[in-house]
Amino acid sequence: MEIDYRAECCKRKDLSGEVVLITGGGRGIGRHLAKEFAKQGAKKVILWGRTEKCLKQTCEEISLEGTECHYFICDVGNREEVYQQAKVVREKVGDVTILVNNAAVVHGKSLMDSDDDALLKSQHVNTLGQFWTTKAFLPRMLELQGGHVVPPPYAFMESLTLGLLDCPGVGCTTVLPFHTNTEMFQGMQVRFPRLFPPLKPEVVAQKTVDAVRSNKAFVYLPWTMHALVILKSFLPQFALEEIHRFSGSYSCMNTFKGAHIGEVHAGEPATSSER
Ligand SMILES: NC(=O)c1ccc[n+]([C@@H]2O[C@H](COP(=O)([O-])OP(=O)(O)OC[C@H]3O[C@@H](n4cnc5c(N)ncnc54)[C@H](OP(=O)(O)O)[C@@H]3O)[C@@H](O)[C@H]2O)c1
Repeated sequence: MEIDYRAECCKRKDLSGEVVLITGGGRGIGRHLAKEFAKQGAKKVILWGRTEKCLKQTCEEISLEGTECHYFICDVGNREEVYQQAKVVREKVGDVTILVNNAAVVHGKSLMDSDDDALLKSQHVNTLGQFWTTKAFLPRMLELQGGHVVPPPYAFMESLTLGLLDCPGVGCTTVLPFHTNTEMFQGMQVRFPRLFPPLKPEVVAQKTVDAVRSNKAFVYLPWTMHALVILKSFLPQFALEEIHRFSGSYSCMNTFKGAHIGEVHAGEPATSSER
């Protein structure tokens, strides 16, 4: 029997039966991801975040385009809230089959300049938050032998990618974008913007949805990031340091003026319960 490997590898997941939950889905890249999943045919889209105004607005836009959309206030850094809201989602909307762990915060300071509480806050959101959301939704995907998780680009992504290799029907895609034009890295200055142009969030969203549909494990954006990944695999440490120095990696955050960590966007009241 002949197997058409090309056709098999290029087959894209049909999203028409998928229930997609995006953390931080109200604004930034998350908002574009939500709209892109809806545009590419997802059955239902669920948004999580802390800023009701943005969640509501994104949800209304998606619903107007004809896709069922729901939003829930949930601080992913708050374990009890994540488990509680996951239960509410299952009861009100159904099983989540694609989980996009997009929510994150950045404070843009060096370790020694960082306030301890800000460091803790970023760990709660960026590291522990994705553990809680993944623990809340992955077991059901494994049970159903169908699902997909998109973790953010931190250490967890590799263990999750490897851990899911032997789980039939459940995939994992990590997207590693460089500087993207959202509020997160406002003020950051790249020395060679022609080589590493700031990405549009809608482009990141489109590439992410495409990667989920074709079950790609890793996506680097822009394409020039591939060169860095390849160089990193064989150049000695001192050469890499020189490249970073020359390209301005060590100083690009000097001009950073992003949002303060832990702030809820645009003056909306924080609704998460106390940890
Ligand atoms: N922008 C870049 O240059 C860049 C580069 C590489 C990777 N990334 C990654 O891309 C993802 C999205 O970043 P972005 O640029 O869209 O940032 P952004 O514009 O600052 O948006 C951050 C999102 O995270 C949500 N969020 C923050 N804390 C939360 C919490 N405790 N609970 C729930 N939601 C929370 C925010 O929603 P609420 O306000 O509703 O809480 C918002 O939707 C992040 O994982 C980031 O690490 C971004």
